[in-house]
Amino acid sequence: MADHEQEDGYDDFDAFVAQLQSEIDEQARTIYSEKVIQEANNPRHVGSMPDATVRGLVHGWCGDTMEFFLRLEGDRIVEAAFMTDGCGPTLACGSMLTSMVHGLSMAEAGEIMPDDLIAALDGLPEESEHCATLAVSTLQNAIFNWHGPPREATGSA
Ligand code: FES
Repeated sequence: MADHEQEDGYDDFDAFVAQLQSEIDEQARTIYSEKVIQEANNPRHVGSMPDATVRGLVHGWCGDTMEFFLRLEGDRIVEAAFMTDGCGPTLACGSMLTSMVHGLSMAEAGEIMPDDLIAALDGLPEESEHCATLAVSTLQNAIFNWHGPPREATGSA
């Protein structure tokens, strides 16, 4: 095959991938809010935090896991991070929730409910609401662990 043919092949493939991605994006927009798509595509605060003051870990009933890391100064959250093997909405939830808790006291963070997170994301489809519950439960598990010996919560989100 001549070089230009191979290049044309790549061009066709790139165009195919771009077309496919735009169709997927279009379809996602009919299901999810702009905010969910934005947070899921560019999640913030993803990763482990070796010097975390406290962590939380929850295995959701859907089979996905979320882990939360909080760094505290006194009882105030100065840094939050998360990891998950879950779906796109879970990434969006972790990203938004780690942003929401930044600067809050642990007591204030403990008042955040799944509905607050869903509202901050401009809504989630009903079938994804449990992803917000998983994220908030993971935060609550971290808050719980702050008060006592670390525990994993399983199957409650
Ligand atoms: Fe499991 Fe979203 S599907 S957390």
